[in-house]
Amino acid sequence: MSENSVDFTQVRAQFPILETVENGQPLVYLDSGATSQKPQRVIEVLDKYYREENANVHRGVYGLSERATEKYEGARETVRGFLNAKSTKEIVFVRGTTEAINLVAHSWAAENLKEDDEVIVTEMEHHSNIVPWQLLRDKLGIRLTVLRMNQNGEVCLKALQGLVSEKTKLVSVTHMSNALGSINPVKEMAEIAHSVGAKIMVDGAQATPHMTVDVRDLNCDFYALSGHKMYGPTGIGVLYAKEALLEVMPPYQGGGDMIYSVTFDKTEYNVLPYKFEAGTPHISGAIGLAAAMDFLNEIGLDNVAEYESELLSYATEKLSQIDGLRIIGQAENKGGVISFVIDGVHPHDMATLMDQDGIAVRASHHCAMPVMQYFNVPATIRASFGVYNNLSDIDRLVASIQDAKEMLL
Ligand code: ALA
Repeated sequence: MSENSVDFTQVRAQFPILETVENGQPLVYLDSGATSQKPQRVIEVLDKYYREENANVHRGVYGLSERATEKYEGARETVRGFLNAKSTKEIVFVRGTTEAINLVAHSWAAENLKEDDEVIVTEMEHHSNIVPWQLLRDKLGIRLTVLRMNQNGEVCLKALQGLVSEKTKLVSVTHMSNALGSINPVKEMAEIAHSVGAKIMVDGAQATPHMTVDVRDLNCDFYALSGHKMYGPTGIGVLYAKEALLEVMPPYQGGGDMIYSVTFDKTEYNVLPYKFEAGTPHISGAIGLAAAMDFLNEIGLDNVAEYESELLSYATEKLSQIDGLRIIGQAENKGGVISFVIDGVHPHDMATLMDQDGIAVRASHHCAMPVMQYFNVPATIRASFGVYNNLSDIDRLVASIQDAKEMLL
C-alpha cells in the first residue's frame, strides 16, 4: 500500500465487532455494501443519548427536550456540511435511500409528471430506484426508459444525450452501483438532464461512505443516502433536495410536527424541512449519523477513496488469478465492490462455505435483478470493502475461495 497520511490500522481498531470470532476464525467482514459496521464513537453516542439525553424534539419547553432538539438540529447541520448543501432547509431526515426515492416519486413526481412524461433510469439500478417509478407509471401512465450499460458495467453519456427529450422530466441514477461498483458520471448526467429541463435524482447509498460528495458541485436536484451504509445507525437516511423544489412540493406524509396549524377545514404546513418530517423522527439515528459523518470527515473522504482503491486493485489482481473466476463489472471508474462468479459453482454454495472460514460476503442478485439478467447470471458473490478492511482480509478471501472451489468442483 502506498503511504497514506491516515493510519488505517488505527481506524480498524475502532470497530469492536471486528474482534468477533465466526466459526472459530476471526471475522473478515466484506459485506459493507449491505451494511457497514459501526465505530466505537457511533456506538457511544447512541448509548449516551439513551442514557442521558433522550426526550422528544421540537415539543418540550423543558431542558432535556431543548437539549435533544439542539442535538437533532445539530445533526442536520453536520449533514448539510457533509454534503455541502446550501441550507439545512434542504436536509430532510428519512428512513433511508429507499424512503427518499419514494418521497420524491410520491411528492415531486406525482405532482409534476403526467401521462407520457418520461423518467430515465440506468440498467444498473437497485430495485429501489426502479419500482417506485413503475408504481408511478401504473398510476399516471408515465414512461420508464432505461439507459443501457456496456459489458464493463458503464453507461455512455452520448447515449444519455441521445435519449433525453422535452418529454424527459427526471433522470434517476445511482452514484455507485451496489452490484458492480461502477461510479457514474453524475455531474455530467446532471448537465444533460438540465439541458432539456429535466431534474436529476441521485441514489447515493453506496457512494457516500466512499467518496467526497458535494451536491452543489454535482448540481443534482435530489440526492439520497442511508446512514447504515456509512458507519451510522440503521433506519436513518437523508433526502437532500434543492430548497426551491422542496418549497413547492406537497408533503409526503401527514402527522405531527409537519404542520403549522390544523382545523377540520384546513391545515397549514410547517416550514422546511419539517413539512417532510411527519411524526416523531429517528432522533438517535440522526445524532448517530452525524457522529458517523464526523468519523468520516476526520479520516477524510479523499483518503478513504485512495485507500479503498488500493484494496480494490489488490483484490482485482488476486481474484483474476483464480481459474474459472469471472469478475462482473469492470468499470474504469469503480468503488470498493467486487462481484464475481465461478464456473460450475452456485454463489450461495460458495458463500456458505466461505462463512465456515469466517468470511462474510453477500451472494445474491443484490436487489438489482436487471444487472443479473444483463450478465446472464442468477446471482454473484460480492465482496464489498470498508475503511476497516486490509490486505490480509483479501488474502483470506482468496484462500477461502480456493478452498471452497476445491470442495465444490
Ligand atoms: N442494498 C444493499 C446491498 O447492496 C442491501 O447489499
